[in-house]
Amino acid sequence: MDFLNMINDALEEYLPKSDDIVSEAMKYSVRNGGKRIRPMLTLEFCKACGAEPEKALPLACAVEMIHTYSLIHDDLPCMDDDDYRRGKPSCHIAFGEANALLAGDALLTLAFETAVKADIAAENVVRAVKELSYSAGILGMVGGQVLDLQNENKALTLSELEQIHNLKTGELIRVACVLGCVAAGADEEKIKAAEAYAKGIGLTFQIVDDILDVTSDAETLGKPIGSDAENQNTTYVSLLGIEKSKEVAAELTRKAKAALAVYDENTEALSLLADNLLIRKK
Ligand code: IPE
Ligand code: IPE
Ligand code: MG
Ligand code: MG
Ligand code: MG
Repeated sequence: MDFLNMINDALEEYLPKSDDIVSEAMKYSVRNGGKRIRPMLTLEFCKACGAEPEKALPLACAVEMIHTYSLIHDDLPCMDDDDYRRGKPSCHIAFGEANALLAGDALLTLAFETAVKADIAAENVVRAVKELSYSAGILGMVGGQVLDLQNENKALTLSELEQIHNLKTGELIRVACVLGCVAAGADEEKIKAAEAYAKGIGLTFQIVDDILDVTSDAETLGKPIGSDAENQNTTYVSLLGIEKSKEVAAELTRKAKAALAVYDENTEALSLLADNLLIRKK
């Protein structure tokens, strides 16, 4: 089975079986949704470290649940106020604000319940949970969202912008890569290389997100465009323009791929994934 089907089947297995409104909202936001970049990274790194990707599947799903929760909350009226996500009405449009808030909360806790199901050594489960909670929290993704909201309508320098991106988007991508290595029981050198790769593709990912917010259309993207300009956000595009932003992204992708040299297994898929993130249209 390919990784995408493995991920979707496993997510289905871990989602609640109940049909109360918040369980329905959780399933609505997770199902058929998104590119599944983060769980793919987890499985690919587990494979690159020489272990069976299945070992990392609960961890991969945990990252995707946290990512989905972050999107549900990110779209709320009190945050970005976006009505459209993954080609469908946002969770709060379909289920109401209170249920969307709770669905996000429940996905966050379900992520940890799921992560500890990984069939790996207990010490690696502990490491995975530690990494996951750090990257999702105030020093990670949530911290990035805080900075993002505080800096709306403000002119930022490139390094301030990079700091926000590294936290709000980069941390979940970093942990997705690291957890694949942790599931495989890999050594610190391999974990460091996963972090270097993640740094390059994470920033590229957000630069491309900023570019697509200007150049794409809502139908292709499955979410509204022009959101950054509307919220007067500083972005790579607003600071550097589209061409220079593309150059920076290409250089970051080159560096990310170079970091893959330490793995003994074939890392062609990770190399391709980095290239695809650079040229993605949605
Ligand atoms: C979108 O992430 C939100 C950001 C962190 C920029 P993705 O583009 O990975 O969203 P999905 O999962 O494919 O919907
Ligand atoms: C979202 O960033 C980051 C998180 C949800 C952590 P954006 O607000 O730029 O993402 P989109 O553009 O709504 O997908
Ligand atoms: Mg946002
Ligand atoms: Mg948003
Ligand atoms: Mg965006």
